Amino acid sequence: MLAQARLAAAAAGDLVALAAAMAAFEGLEIRRGAKSFVFADGNPRARVMVVGEAPGREEDIEGRPFVGRAGRLLDRMFAAIGLARDAGDPARALYITNVLPWRPPGNRTPTAEETALMTPFLQRHIALADPAILVIMGNTPAQALLGRGGILGLRGQWTAAAGRPARPMTHPAYLLRNPLAKREAWADLLSIRDRLREHA
Ligand code: URA
Repeated sequence: MLAQARLAAAAAGDLVALAAAMAAFEGLEIRRGAKSFVFADGNPRARVMVVGEAPGREEDIEGRPFVGRAGRLLDRMFAAIGLARDAGDPARALYITNVLPWRPPGNRTPTAEETALMTPFLQRHIALADPAILVIMGNTPAQALLGRGGILGLRGQWTAAAGRPARPMTHPAYLLRNPLAKREAWADLLSIRDRLREHA
């Protein structure tokens, strides 16, 4: 199945073809329990691309990533540094996706196998959107893009993923449960803002 995922991802020449290839991919059982295939949201030309984990209940209903409580926090966080998913100007825009396009039952954490099978599609998604900066929101995208979890140890510094600068950050769902961690998330956001300015 991994070979099939790699072939299908590599064959996709644009984002529309990639979404179609992912929607047709039969490698993950969870697709049968999900209402929606959730591909991405925002401006695909954005300089900043955010990668989350997987759709939750509200995302599954709406068919868009990060529209629930954590998503509203994510929007507020990025608005604070002048970025929005509905911005037309790539310098002010945000593009958002997840490692998994289907909701895992009961919002459980994606398995290592599910993450591994969807990673070729994620890598292709990043290559096609070609953002200047990646934001790795939480353990699952860290596992997919950096080959390791442990987001609390990864955050706070720049790394490289998919051939570009990447900033690991704690997931907004974690910040809702641990409001004291918002101070560190703010430091990560400021670092993203500074990097965008330096490389404007
Ligand atoms: N959490 C995620 O990681 N992604 C979503 O789309 C929603 C919640």
